[in-house]
Parts: sequence; structure tokens; C-alpha cells
Amino acid sequence: TRTAAVIPAAGRGVRLGPGAPKALRTLNGTPMLVHAVRAMAASRYVSLVVVVAPADGAGEVKSLLDEYEHALPERTEFLVVPGGDTRQESVRLGLKALPDDIAAVLVHDAARPLVPVDTVDAVVEAVRDGAVAVVPALPLADTVKQVEPRPHGTPEPVVATPERALLRAVQTPQGFDRAVLAHAHATVPAAGDGATDCAGMVERLGRPVVVVPGHEEAFKVTRPLDLVLAEAVLARRRA
Ligand code: CTP
Ligand code: MG
Repeated sequence: TRTAAVIPAAGRGVRLGPGAPKALRTLNGTPMLVHAVRAMAASRYVSLVVVVAPADGAGEVKSLLDEYEHALPERTEFLVVPGGDTRQESVRLGLKALPDDIAAVLVHDAARPLVPVDTVDAVVEAVRDGAVAVVPALPLADTVKQVEPRPHGTPEPVVATPERALLRAVQTPQGFDRAVLAHAHATVPAAGDGATDCAGMVERLGRPVVVVPGHEEAFKVTRPLDLVLAEAVLARRRA
């Protein structure tokens, strides 16, 4: 079972504020994308990494990976393809670039640069054990309320409070049987901004999705405070 990792990295990072595309912003001097690629390549199961670059930045991303080649394991092969307008579209373009002999695929956000290799391996192993879709996830710290959305600044009525113990916050890498994920991308229509998560598309096909334990360090860099946390995690690792 040859396994590939597709890394959607084509987003702008609007919530992070002005600057370079999010995947190219640095953490302690190294671009977030390089951390994410290294996290996937660190798994002994992963033999190919497909990076989905900003549509106008594929060349820049290729040179970046060449520049950091010395810091990446030799057995891993790399491909760079241009992305689309939504995460779902970017993932679809990444899947299209996979060679035929790939049987299992991980989809991993460039914006989760610090996921530990044990979490990556646990996801791959669950797929190898026969699961068609696997997501790493953690219990929630906060209570979650469903609301009736109102314009910003207006109080929003609460509609329901789902039982927190039954909820999980989902991370990446998400692991899939390659044929099932490709089928999901070929048949599930893009709704609005596209699916925020690949496993949701597999659920819509009626196929089972299972959860394995996620990791605190697999958090997504979304807002400026997350950059502070990510750099602190890196500093602690080096200490
Ligand atoms: N992504 C992508 N193509 C898009 C949009 C997002 O490949 N058109 C990727 C991002 O690069 C990121 C992952 O999907 O690695 C998760 O998306 P998110 O954290 O929302 O990143 P951005 O969309 O870049 O951030 P924002 O929503 O704040 O603009
Ligand atoms: Mg986004």
C-alpha cells in the first residue's frame, strides 16, 4: 500500500492578517509549509508529498522545496501543483496529480505545521487496518452553542447546546482509501465555500468515518495568536 500526502497550501490566510500567503509565513525562520512537508515526510509510510500551491505561486513553492531539500528525508518524492479558489478545489487538484499506484492518501493542512509523526502514523495505520476514512480529533475545552446568526455586534439567540462530551474538534492529517476519496471529490458538489474537511464529503457518500486521538500540537495556525503559540512549541522542542 503506497501512501501519499496531499498538502493544501493555496489559501491566502485572511484571518492571519496582511502578509505573504499563510503557508509561506515563517515560524522561527522556516516557512510553515516546510514544517508541514517535513511532518508528512517524517512518516515512514509516506513516499510521496503533493503540495498544492497558491495558483500564482507554484514556481515559488518549487524553489522553496529545492532550497530545503537537504532538510527533508531522501526517500520522499515531491510534486507541486497549482491550487484553486476553495480548499475543496485545491484538494481535488492535488488528488488529480497522484500516480496510479497510490492506494492510501493523507490530506494535511499546510496550516498545521507541527503535527507529531506519531499522530500521522496512527492515521495511516488505521487506514491500513481497513478504515476508509480516518480523522484525528480531540475533545473540546469550550462548551459549544448553536446560534441563529445575526449581523456582527447584534446579540445572537441560542438555539441549542450540543452535549460537549459527544463532540470532537477535528484536525489533519485525515487518511483515506484513495478510491473512496477520489469518488467523493468526483460526486459531492462544492457547496458554498466548499467543504472545510474531506471526511465530511465521505460522510455524505454514506461511507463510515472513524476518529483516532489527535494531538494538541496539531492545532491550526489561523489567527495571529496561533503564530505565537507555534513558535513557543518549536522553541520548547529545541530546548
Ligand atoms: N487552502 C487551499 N486552497 C484554498 C483555501 C485553503 O489549499 N483555496 C488550504 C490552506 O492553505 C490551509 C488549509 O487549506 O493549509 C486550511 O485552510 P485555512 O486554515 O482556512 O487557510 P486559509 O484559507 O489560507 O486561511 P483563511 O481562511 O483565514 O483565509
Ligand atoms: Mg480558509
